Amino acid sequence: MRILILGDVVGRPGRRAIGDLIPSFVRSESIDLAIANAENAAGGMGVDVKSAEELLSGGIDVLTSGNHIWKKKEIYPYLENHSHLLRPANYPSGVPGRGWLEWQNEQGLRALVVNVQGRVFMPSHVDDPFRCADSILREHGSHSPVVIVDMHAEATSEKNAMGWFLDGRASVVYGTHTHVQTADERILSKGTAYITDVGMCGPVDSVIGIEKEAVIEGFLNQLPRKFEVARDNVVLQGVILDVDDTSGRAQAIRRIRLPWKGSET
Ligand SMILES: [Fe+2]
Ligand SMILES: [Fe+2]
Repeated sequence: MRILILGDVVGRPGRRAIGDLIPSFVRSESIDLAIANAENAAGGMGVDVKSAEELLSGGIDVLTSGNHIWKKKEIYPYLENHSHLLRPANYPSGVPGRGWLEWQNEQGLRALVVNVQGRVFMPSHVDDPFRCADSILREHGSHSPVVIVDMHAEATSEKNAMGWFLDGRASVVYGTHTHVQTADERILSKGTAYITDVGMCGPVDSVIGIEKEAVIEGFLNQLPRKFEVARDNVVLQGVILDVDDTSGRAQAIRRIRLPWKGSET
């Protein structure tokens, strides 16, 4: 089974690049399941119904998210009614949506997709992501040998620890949230593929997707300001994963960077 995992989609440039590139890429690379993190899909902050629908009709099968999922209130009822958009599982019980999906396609391929959020250097005081992931795998792990975990977190150490914590139980543990692709992709000793951050789908001539001038000024004067999504040099970043769908063990993990030639004007 071949899985495409894309990093945080930033604003309209990220969505347009996905719509232009991913449907044909999915066909040419024989991708069975395409996943992207949507937490920044609407204007760089949050996800609204329009951007979720645009991604889900643009070749993406499952959307994960992170701390910014709560920014647009219109997505709360959508989270309740649309299982293919996940929010991190370790928010307090009772918040909208859920953090795992038992995915299945028409060919009968299956995967359990899990989304958790780290606690180190993160703004929200969420529950323990380790115990949360463990209990989801205990409860739903029998759905499929293929288990995919988006660990949305800031700290390399916390993501690294999650990889080893789930080694042998997940097919892949990958990081999102920092928007900068890391070069540490590997398969851990018990068969779990791991990468600290899959990167971003958005303009890389920016500070993690945002107009660089405003961010630099913010660092210089510490005053609040409006951040706009940047436009230049849009790249889709992520990984392609090959998994043995009977054992769930990863066979290969490969980083990808797909430049988008369209213009965001
Ligand atoms: Fe993000
Ligand atoms: Fe985030």
